[in-house]
Amino acid sequence: MIGPLIAILAFIPAMLANSLAVVFGGGPPIDSGKKWNDNRVLGDGKTWRGLFGGGISAAIVGVILYFIFSLRFYLYPSFPGGLLVIFTLSFGALLGDIGASFVKRRRGVPRGKNSPIMDRYDFIVGAFLLIILIDADWFYQTYIEGDGWIGTIIIIVGVPFLHRAVNILGYKLGLKDEPW
Ligand code: CTP
Ligand code: MG
Repeated sequence: MIGPLIAILAFIPAMLANSLAVVFGGGPPIDSGKKWNDNRVLGDGKTWRGLFGGGISAAIVGVILYFIFSLRFYLYPSFPGGLLVIFTLSFGALLGDIGASFVKRRRGVPRGKNSPIMDRYDFIVGAFLLIILIDADWFYQTYIEGDGWIGTIIIIVGVPFLHRAVNILGYKLGLKDEPW
C-alpha cells in the first residue's frame, strides 16, 4: 500500500501553497486594483507576494520531502523533471485559488467571504488540472495507476477537513482575518 502514501505525500506542496500564501501575502494585488463590471477582477486578497512567496516556499518543502523520502521511494520524477512537477503542484494550487476568487468576484461575492465548496476544492482542482497539462504520465502513474487512486480519494475526501483545520489555526495565530 505504498501507492496511496506516495500520492498523498507528493501532494503536500499543493496543500501547503495557499497556507504559505497567507504567511507571505500582502502588498500589491495581482489585479492592480482593476475592476471588471463594477467588481474587482480578483481583489486585494490575491497578491504577487502571496503567489510567489507561497508557490516557491511550498515547492522548497516539496524538494526537501523528495530528498528525505528518496531513501525509501521517489515522490517525483528524477530532477530536473521532478522540480517541474513540484512547482506545477504548488503553483497549480495557487492558480486554482486565484481562479476561484475570479469566479467569486464575478458573482459579486466580496473578498474574504466564505464560499465553502470552492474554498475547499479550488486548489485541488487547480493542482490536478495543471499537472495533467504539464506531466500527464506522472499524474497517471501517481494518482490513478495501481493503488494510487486510493490516495486520490483520500485527498479529495480528507483535504477539505485539513484545509479547514489549518485555516482555524491561521485565524487563531492572527495570520488570517476569518477562520475559513
Ligand atoms: N494571499 C495572498 N495572495 C494569494 C493568496 C492569498 O496574498 N495569491 C493572502 C491574502 O492576504 C489573503 C489571505 O492570504 O487575504 C487569505 O487567502 P484567501 O482566503 O485565499 O483570500 P481572501 O482574502 O479570502 O480573498 P478571496 O475572497 O478572494 O478568496
Ligand atoms: Mg478566503
